[in-house]
Amino acid sequence: MSGNVFGSNFVIVPFGESHGKCIGVVIDGCPAGLKLDMDLIQKELNRRRPGQSKISTPRTEDDRFEILSGIFNGYTTGAPIAMVVEDIESSKYDKIKNTPRPGHADFTAWYKYGGFQDYRGGGRFSGRTTISFILAGAVAKQLLKKLLQIEILAHTVAIGGIKVERSISVEEIKKNVESNSVRCADLKIAEKMIKRIEEVQHEGDSVGGIIEAICINIPVGLGEPLFRNVESEFSKLLFAIPAVKGIEFGSGFKAADLVGSQNNDKFIIESNKIRTETNNAGGILGGISTGMPIVCRIVIKPTASIAKPQKTVNLQSMTPTEIAVEGRHDPVIVPRAVPIVEAALAIVLVDLAIQRGLIPPVLPKNG
Ligand SMILES: Cc1cc2nc3c(=O)[nH]c(=O)nc-3n(C[C@H](O)[C@H](O)[C@H](O)COP(=O)(O)O)c2cc1C
Repeated sequence: MSGNVFGSNFVIVPFGESHGKCIGVVIDGCPAGLKLDMDLIQKELNRRRPGQSKISTPRTEDDRFEILSGIFNGYTTGAPIAMVVEDIESSKYDKIKNTPRPGHADFTAWYKYGGFQDYRGGGRFSGRTTISFILAGAVAKQLLKKLLQIEILAHTVAIGGIKVERSISVEEIKKNVESNSVRCADLKIAEKMIKRIEEVQHEGDSVGGIIEAICINIPVGLGEPLFRNVESEFSKLLFAIPAVKGIEFGSGFKAADLVGSQNNDKFIIESNKIRTETNNAGGILGGISTGMPIVCRIVIKPTASIAKPQKTVNLQSMTPTEIAVEGRHDPVIVPRAVPIVEAALAIVLVDLAIQRGLIPPVLPKNG
């Protein structure tokens, strides 16, 4: 049952259920002396919040956070930081109690926890639990930016089969990603994606897509092979985000079609530093960061809860039945998952940077 702890140095324990009293996280191992920017934490929560646009669920959740421990006079103290977001009132969700939604975790949770699981709104398996990642990630992002100038930028590159086919610069991502409801840096493609979402929404259906994340200013040498290498640590946390179904690094699955001379990144000297001409490795060789940007792409499946009637079974009577999921659900999860992906990567990078001795246990006085 003890699968809720991540990290070795910057350790997080996310907790809470969709319709419980609160959702939060305990961070153990955050260095002392970090002056936390509370507005930045709220800004990240707002990016994840539902109801941001027409293509997001109109559920209204305030998502105001509170810090319960680990901060004194605005600075981290080195003690565990507990942060929570108070939850919304409970709705009934009686229907899904006995008729599991196809594609959701209702069936596996019911089977595994013998019916004791909190099924309301998906309980522990709800997308709402990713608030914990956002909270811890917002602290991690601040550490990375202040101490190592590391930035993590995620953006949508595919939704419902509509894809960004060209390479997008870091500047374009920074400029455009928050300017449209799908968080796509190519504005023309963004319009097409929105149209596609509206179509499926009209049909009571949903779509999935792909998020690309780029981590810049990464030092050489992060990652602890064999089992705490950069790819495996990233993957472990990314796969904890509900609805994530695939990850690739660098050229990823395309590498299967390339010859070695195409896929190898040739070494060059640039401003006295060893760099590579291309970045098919996605900034990772042997599980260790190369100093080039770390690039990965994350597949998000179509939202499971849809209004279209679908076959399911009644768990009590063991008879076949149908379910059409009522209530308000995102026809696409991808745009709201963009800040969650960034948060997850930030948590991993801080954990690995502390391991490497790049973040001290006590920050300098002006930290
Ligand atoms: C931000 C976010 C919001 C989500 N909202 C919904 C939703 O409204 N309806 C739904 O069926 N799934 C939603 N999910 C996904 C489910 O929680 C997820 O599919 C389910 O727990 C099963 O896990 P799996 O898809 O990883 O196997 C959301 C996920 C995220 C990250």
